[in-house]
Amino acid sequence: MAAPNAVPAPLGLLAELTHRCPLGCPYCSNPLALDRRDDEIDAATWARVFREAAALGVLQVHLSGGEPAARRDLPEIVKAARDAGLYSNLITSGVGLTPQTLAALADAGLDHVQVSMQDSEQASADHIAGYEGASARKRAISGEVVRLGLPLTINLVVHRANVGRIEPMVELALSLGASRVEIAHVQYYGWAMKNRAALMPSKAQVDEAVREVEMLRARHHGRIVIDAVVPDYFARFPKPCVGGWGRRSLNVTPAGKVLPCHAAEVIPGLEFWNVREHSLGEIWRSSPAFNVFRGEAWMQEPCRSCARREQDFGGCRCQAFLIAGDARATDPVCHLSPRHALVSQLAEAREDMAYSYRTN
Ligand code: SF4
Ligand code: FES
Repeated sequence: MAAPNAVPAPLGLLAELTHRCPLGCPYCSNPLALDRRDDEIDAATWARVFREAAALGVLQVHLSGGEPAARRDLPEIVKAARDAGLYSNLITSGVGLTPQTLAALADAGLDHVQVSMQDSEQASADHIAGYEGASARKRAISGEVVRLGLPLTINLVVHRANVGRIEPMVELALSLGASRVEIAHVQYYGWAMKNRAALMPSKAQVDEAVREVEMLRARHHGRIVIDAVVPDYFARFPKPCVGGWGRRSLNVTPAGKVLPCHAAEVIPGLEFWNVREHSLGEIWRSSPAFNVFRGEAWMQEPCRSCARREQDFGGCRCQAFLIAGDARATDPVCHLSPRHALVSQLAEAREDMAYSYRTN
C-alpha cells in the first residue's frame, strides 16, 4: 500500500491556454462557465509555470484549449516550453491555425501535433463541429504538419453519429500521414453532459467498434498506432483517471487555476490555488485540492479493500460526484459499485434530439 502522505513527481502538464474556440462541438468537456480572454495568464507567466513544472519532474506539456491558436503569442509559449526542456504537444482543432503560424511553431521547437477529426464524411464532420468547412481545413493543416516533418496524431472523437465509421476514419488518418490515431469515445463532463442522450451509442455499436479496432490494429500493424479504450459507461472497470489524483499530472486553466484534473471544478468545496499567487511546486505539494484524494485514506468500500485500487485508484472522482453525488464514492462505472445500476440506466438513455452546440 502506498504511503498516504508520499507526494510523487508529476510527468505531464495540461496547459489550457485559452477557452476561446471557433468550433461548437456538442461533446466539449470544458466547463459550462469559461474563462474570459481578459483573465488569461500571459506568456511570461506560462514560461515561469513551464520552468517550475520541469523542476518538479514534468516531461511533457500538452498545449490545449479551446483552440490554442486563438492566442497570438502561441509561438512565444511554445518556445518557452522548449527553453524549459519540455516535450511539447499541440492539441488543436486545426481551424484558425494557419500554415504560417504552424511553421513559426515548428521553428519555436514544437515537438508534436494532435488534430481532432469529427468524421470521415465531411458534411457530417462539419455538422458535428457546428462549423461549415471545418473538415477541409483540418485535412489541409494536417498535411502541413506532415510536410514540416512533425509527428501527427489524429484524434477521432467517437459517439453515436460516427461510431459506425471507425474504419474509414482510420483510413483517413493513414492517408493524412498520421503515425498515431486515438479513438476517443466521448467523456461526459462539462458541456457534453447537455448532449449525453444525443451522443450515447448503443451497446451493439460499442461491441462492434471494439471488434473493428482489433481488426484494424492487426491490418495496420507497423503502419500506424491505434489507441482506443472501451468507453466509460460500457466498461466493467473504471479508467485510472489522470493516472490517479495528484499522482501524475496537473492542469492549469487559462486563468491560472491549477486543477488535479480537467473537470475538478465540478466537485463542490475544493480549494484550488492559482499560479498568480503560488509556485507550481507549492501547489502540487500543498494545495488542499491536490491532497484531498491523494493516497487511499479517502476511499470507501468496495475500493478500500479491493485488489485493483492501486491500478485504477477507484476510478474518476468527478464521475463519482456527477453520477453518484459523492466524490469519495467508488466510480459508478465499476461493476462492483453499489451504484453501478445508475450507469447502466444512463447508457440506455438515448434520444434522437438536435445537438446543443457549445457557444463561446
Ligand atoms: Fe477499482 Fe474500486 Fe472498482 Fe476495485 S472497487 S475495481 S478499486 S473502482
Ligand atoms: Fe476529474 Fe476524472 S475527470 S478525476
